[in-house]
Amino acid sequence: MATKTTTTAIDREHRPRIGKMGSLVLIGAGTTVLTSKTIQMKMEELANHPPSSLKYFLPFLLLPLLLWTRLALPLRFAYNCFVKPFFARSKHVTEQDAHKAKLESFYSGQADLYDSTRSALLKGRENMLQLLAAHLKAQTEPLVRKGSLGPNGDGVGQKKIWVDLGGGTGWNIEKMDEYLPLSYFDAIYLIDLCEPLLEVARARIKARGWKNVHVLCQDASNFVLPEWESGELDPRGSLRAVTMSYSLSMIPPFYQLLDRCDQVLDPQRGLMGVVDFYTSRDGGNKERAIGTASKRVSWFAKWFWECWFSLDGVNLNASRRGEFYKMGTIKVYNGRNNFLDSWFIQIPYYVFIGCSRRRDASTTLQSFTQEAGNQKGLNNAGLLTPVSPFPTPPLSSPEAFNMMETLDLGPSAYKADIMRGNNDQIVMQQTLVDAGAPLSPFHYHLKKAWRVPYLEEKVHEQFRTHIYGWTWEDPAVDVKKLNINKDDHILAITSAGDNVLHYALAASPARIHAVDMNPCQGHILELKLAAIQALDYNDFWLMFGEGRHPEFKKLLTTKLSPYLSSHAYAYWLAHNTQFSRNFYFRGYSGWALRLAQIAFFLSGVSKDVKKICKANTIAEQDAIWKKKIRPVFLGKWMVKLFLGNPMFNWHALGVPQNQMNCFLQDGTVEDYIKATLDPIPKLTTLKDDNYFFLLCLNGRYTRSSCPSFLKPEGFRALKNGKATNSIKSHTDTILNVLRGLPDGSLTKIIVMDSMDWFDPIDPSTPLPSTSTIAPDTLDSTPEASLEHLRSELDYEIIEMLRVLAIGGQAIWRSAAKRPWYIQRFELAGFRVSSIDIRENGQAIDRVNMYASFWKAEKVTGMRG
Ligand SMILES: C[S@@+](CC[C@H](N)C(=O)[O-])C[C@H]1O[C@@H](n2cnc3c(N)ncnc32)[C@H](O)[C@@H]1O
Repeated sequence: MATKTTTTAIDREHRPRIGKMGSLVLIGAGTTVLTSKTIQMKMEELANHPPSSLKYFLPFLLLPLLLWTRLALPLRFAYNCFVKPFFARSKHVTEQDAHKAKLESFYSGQADLYDSTRSALLKGRENMLQLLAAHLKAQTEPLVRKGSLGPNGDGVGQKKIWVDLGGGTGWNIEKMDEYLPLSYFDAIYLIDLCEPLLEVARARIKARGWKNVHVLCQDASNFVLPEWESGELDPRGSLRAVTMSYSLSMIPPFYQLLDRCDQVLDPQRGLMGVVDFYTSRDGGNKERAIGTASKRVSWFAKWFWECWFSLDGVNLNASRRGEFYKMGTIKVYNGRNNFLDSWFIQIPYYVFIGCSRRRDASTTLQSFTQEAGNQKGLNNAGLLTPVSPFPTPPLSSPEAFNMMETLDLGPSAYKADIMRGNNDQIVMQQTLVDAGAPLSPFHYHLKKAWRVPYLEEKVHEQFRTHIYGWTWEDPAVDVKKLNINKDDHILAITSAGDNVLHYALAASPARIHAVDMNPCQGHILELKLAAIQALDYNDFWLMFGEGRHPEFKKLLTTKLSPYLSSHAYAYWLAHNTQFSRNFYFRGYSGWALRLAQIAFFLSGVSKDVKKICKANTIAEQDAIWKKKIRPVFLGKWMVKLFLGNPMFNWHALGVPQNQMNCFLQDGTVEDYIKATLDPIPKLTTLKDDNYFFLLCLNGRYTRSSCPSFLKPEGFRALKNGKATNSIKSHTDTILNVLRGLPDGSLTKIIVMDSMDWFDPIDPSTPLPSTSTIAPDTLDSTPEASLEHLRSELDYEIIEMLRVLAIGGQAIWRSAAKRPWYIQRFELAGFRVSSIDIRENGQAIDRVNMYASFWKAEKVTGMRG
């Protein structure tokens, strides 16, 4: 549907008018006066010798005029919103009439300036509409079009109807046309009780020439469509979309309203979009499942905004938002409107995209339980194992038609019979999914899903952003030396997901459990996976090759959102600026790059750094390194101030003290850095191969030197193939994920250098018996929880032994040549051997960050 943005009747509607005759009279009078000789002479005289009093009075004369032109609009807005409501008196008999009269009195004096005064106040409307449009487009449509099939039919051919409740002036409909052509819908209804606003809407519809948009003056809580009255459509399940922007908080019978929405929304394809102010405080477990940690507002803000908005008949009571729990949440995020760009006005608002709880969620359930091999909930052990807050079983119906794309995840790591009850029903009590089956946004995900559901925990507050913006281990060496192949069931640390994507591309393993307890690392992997599916190569390259995309925020909502979990979407929306300049300079690891750049600049080697990135041979590379860069990198102050400083190591490089102790057992910090960096220039060129160091020195990848998934052929292979189906991203500790996996279900566990992080255990300490459960209740603070994690090595080893198949291997790199914990693996019954040890100036891989590379093989069955 065409939308003109030039001057039209509707634009004129918003301007103060003096009428055609008035304009003519003014123009005529003005011309006569200005062309009269006497006036012209007088003006010239005044210009040459302005009377001194006029000099002072002129500003005073012009000031009111200036003030009027600048302030007329805000003053009318303020009068209508904050003064008029005090004097409104109701003489109406029914509540509905009184409500209508109140609305009309409130808006009558400002209907013409409604749109121009609400753009900053009603924030999030565009975002809600963009999200809704993206999710509507993301849904697969049935192929056949025929008549309506009513509530229990399969919805094939059903009319697409969108109802905007409390739609006011029709601004939403005009905006939606930018994101989804209005012709997508067979009919659009704008429902509102307030005639002055509806008049503006009617003028808009006429001016735009929309034929499928209709205005109904009705109460939203009991609205009726003409199709329902005529019997053409059964109201139940007849709507494809329902939206409410800043109207839910104004409609008194909101229970009735939301019940109605639930009934009339198409249970399989219907989507609901809401944006509104709110003030709720903590909401307990259910809130955590939906992922709304940012929801909490202070008691003062709650009290203040509730009082403030109640003046205008806007009710922000938490129960309004609470009612959404009867819907399935697809996306939700909480924002703060810093109205008028002020830091002190922060009005809380939320955006919600949801669906009917009757939507079929069985495919996602299967993906998260059976295929993700997830037994969480079988016991209460584990730091992050959630206790189910939901007694309700999922409402998926076996006969419901299959809306979701098939999640072909290859062979399962799970024994199917464990998960099935008598009637082949999934036994929900035994799964993590039970914690959020009907309510978690993970289950109503519309597209391919990679993230295993998780609950927000206190410990997550520790991770406000990512630690690793790229993965600092060489996955090509892993694939080669560990013989990773299509039959493998792997557990690997997520980090920035580069290694996981490499394994998927190079070897297509049957299953890859990517594990990270920092949700932000999982968000990076999800973003990469979503971008591979939803974007074209150029956009993908800009984001992860260059590290910046000028349109990232727009892409996030319009293209990536249907592929992202609600948690990841909300995170990236809040952190969208990470892609404005350079993603690789953000997060903790970004600090290391920034500091390196500053150090190069201060020591005058920036040019040499550029040269080494472009060197064509390893000889040229090595010469630049030795002559120019090495003296800086291994300079005394650099080692003392940064590389040998535990604070820098942890915050910028992610190296904790326990790991520092590991390499200090073999020599000094300086020795370690020499052994790490000296072999690199002699290995392969940064320009064509060593993308790890190229990124660190150059700040971005190049087309010739980047991870394989960033190359056009790698990107295409991942996009078109099924390799990424095997990835399941867990937001949890390794120990907890292992506890959720069945016996003998993994072939390789690649834990990077994480074993170095544990607190040393005295060799004489016996291993805990398998039946002992680690005393890992949730600690009161994130710091305490992390502290606790460091003592869990033995439990992790025992779980590795249980979950690995015979012949399966646990693999790690270490900063120590012979790490202390080998003894713990051997005590558990593993056969431990080195894959590589960094000696004689040789590198173990292109990163060469660690002194050794080890494997522990499971040779027999379980420990006794
Ligand atoms: C803040 S305005 C929002 C208008 C529009 N959705 C927007 O985003 O610009 C709230 C709207 O809700 C409408 N409204 C309030 N109570 C209503 C009711 N019971 N039935 C229908 N509309 C109602 C008001 O008339 C008004 O148009």
